Amino acid sequence: MTAPLRSNNLEAFWMPFTANRQFKQQPRLLVGAKDMHYTSADGRQILDATAGLWCCNAGHGRQKIVEAVSNQVAELDYAPAFQMGHPKAFELAARLANMLPAPLDHVFFTNSGSESVDTALKIALAYQRARGKGTKYRLLGRERGYHGVGFGGISVGGISGNRKTFGTMLTGVDHIRHTHDIERNAFSRGVPEYGVEFAEELERVIALHDASNIAALIIEPVAGSTGVLIPPKGYLKRIREICDKHDILLIFDEVITGFGRVGTPFAFDYFDVMPDLVTVAKGITSGVVPMGAVFAAKHIYDTFMDAPENTIELFHGYTYSGHPLACAAALATLDVYEEEGLLTRAADLASYWEDGLHAMKGLPHVIDIRNLGLIGAIELEPIPGAPTKRAFSAFLKAYENNLMIRTTGDIIAMSPPLIVEKSHIDQIFETLTRVLKSID
Ligand SMILES: Cc1ncc(COP(=O)(O)O)c(C=O)c1O
Repeated sequence: MTAPLRSNNLEAFWMPFTANRQFKQQPRLLVGAKDMHYTSADGRQILDATAGLWCCNAGHGRQKIVEAVSNQVAELDYAPAFQMGHPKAFELAARLANMLPAPLDHVFFTNSGSESVDTALKIALAYQRARGKGTKYRLLGRERGYHGVGFGGISVGGISGNRKTFGTMLTGVDHIRHTHDIERNAFSRGVPEYGVEFAEELERVIALHDASNIAALIIEPVAGSTGVLIPPKGYLKRIREICDKHDILLIFDEVITGFGRVGTPFAFDYFDVMPDLVTVAKGITSGVVPMGAVFAAKHIYDTFMDAPENTIELFHGYTYSGHPLACAAALATLDVYEEEGLLTRAADLASYWEDGLHAMKGLPHVIDIRNLGLIGAIELEPIPGAPTKRAFSAFLKAYENNLMIRTTGDIIAMSPPLIVEKSHIDQIFETLTRVLKSID
């Protein structure tokens, strides 16, 4: 028998997306958070340049949200999600629907981005069948796309590390190419100039499979987890046109772009392109309680409602869909966003953020800088034979210097809470400049 673990032993926790052994030798434990800062176990104030994991858009420890969740747990801890309801789930759905432009007018609740993606893909397939187009069963995604870690999400996703060890995944999936074009677009400020023609890839893949067999295309309007790829000028509009031409649903995965990240409530507002389904999570509760949602267009919901009235229209849902704590957190979060104008605040700060970020051009190892709203990325030249190592050293060094950034591959990604002030932005880039000068 092995010896029992001490209660404060780090061993038992199999950490997600983490180099477990490395972390456990040199742990980075956070014990508190308020507004723009985390408190580390060794008592330091760490400036949060990532809104947690792109989720704490209202900042940390916001009183209104804390109170709403505390009150809710005392009042109604849980209500069954199937064939029963509770008022806050309806209130939240109605409030979200009111924020959304037509035709998006229905909301399906989930508990994460991955579940939102699975839900949207399933709605797309079931919708095609419900309207008598059951041969439309194929799903399209994009190379370098990140749609969470469910089997649906990794199948339509395009990050090879997330796919290669998990067998055949969903069948009937294909991918169009990503839009990264560092040769033509390096150091673009905001939306890059070149690459609208990458949308024509969609025509190629449709011709291969035939539109009569394709249900939907899912893409992130701004690809985040792959290292921040901003869509080229005109690209998303062209994608929409091609989907319309071939009667294919367009799903925008707005798990990170939703709730103010690019300076408008959603990225579809920014790019003026209307998807049929939208997946969200993270910012919906500012990360306080896990929650996700799918926004569905009227024509999709209505198609399901053609079934006889006493039947379940969609055989899908989660025990915790619309959990009372998540709904309370989301309603309070929407209040905070509204009271403080946070869903458009990124637009006010975008040029200050952009200037600070692009001032890092010319620093050692920097081969590209990209930005939109309050998103920023710095791509570093990988160390030959040791990809990801350089960016990870930057991450560790930044943390030592009281700054939290994120890295993916050799790309540093930043997405501060939307309450960030100019003084924080200065501090982020001053620290990062020191960090980049100090790493090999
Ligand atoms: C675009 C996108 N979709 C889906 C997900 C998955 O979300 P979750 O980790 O909540 O399952 C993420 C997470 O970062 C994401 O960025």
